[in-house]
Amino acid sequence: MKTLLDQVNEGDLPRHIAIIMDGNGRWAKARGLPRTAGHQAGALAAERLIRFVGARISIPYITLFAFSSENWDRPQTEVSYLMNLLADFIRSKLAEFVEAGIQLRVIGDLGRVPDTLRQEVESAVAATAANDRLRLTIALSYGARQELAAAAQRIAREAAEGRLEPGQVDERAIADRLETSGIPDPDLVIRTSGEERLSNFLLWQAAYAELCFTDVLWPDFTPAELVRCVAIYQARQRRFGLVEEGAR
Ligand code: IPE
Ligand code: IPE
Ligand code: MG
Repeated sequence: MKTLLDQVNEGDLPRHIAIIMDGNGRWAKARGLPRTAGHQAGALAAERLIRFVGARISIPYITLFAFSSENWDRPQTEVSYLMNLLADFIRSKLAEFVEAGIQLRVIGDLGRVPDTLRQEVESAVAATAANDRLRLTIALSYGARQELAAAAQRIAREAAEGRLEPGQVDERAIADRLETSGIPDPDLVIRTSGEERLSNFLLWQAAYAELCFTDVLWPDFTPAELVRCVAIYQARQRRFGLVEEGAR
């Protein structure tokens, strides 16, 4: 019997997949449901994905874009719903993360999130810090431009204090001051729901990522769709500015 994983070369999997989980609102609208029902279904899709990657496919880094810096400007009821949903999600999945060897990390401006969610994040991050089977990063209250501005502030401060020379500010120095420091750049960025843009997600880190846009709405995203995106990724030739192998 053909299994899902027969579609990909398991020796050449992306090391890091970052996903823009989009389309919850449209999924709900198509069913005559409130947007919040779409977010709830989206949380189930995230759970399904994490379980699959944690147990079935060896991709060591996954990053999920859960809430952007710009999403704060959505209606207050939707924002509160999402904050509660994220807190519930982290609280209810913690035992499973510990059990499955999943390490949780969060990037984004946690200064803006409600105390209850921040506390759930802090305790889950601490409880899973030693895990290394799958490193799961949730981007929450995250915006790449804000992240880059914060890195620039850090660099300016270090320079003003005489701890850094302007000539030392190279790519490495910037990458080390981003919130993703220590996480390899994403090899593959997937966005669901048919939108083909990055919406302020990992702008620095995704410089050479392969992009896969799928029309599937996030709540309908399945392991099979993930595997399909990985197969598309594996059919691409990553050149990093060089010439095709064998070219003359
Ligand atoms: C993604 O779904 C979830 C968040 C951005 C929080 P949306 O809520 O953006 O759903 P659409 O794009 O309106 O369908
Ligand atoms: C991007 O989706 C943010 C997340 C998926 C968390 P949006 O729905 O906010 O992006 P735009 O507004 O369509 O660019
Ligand atoms: Mg959207």
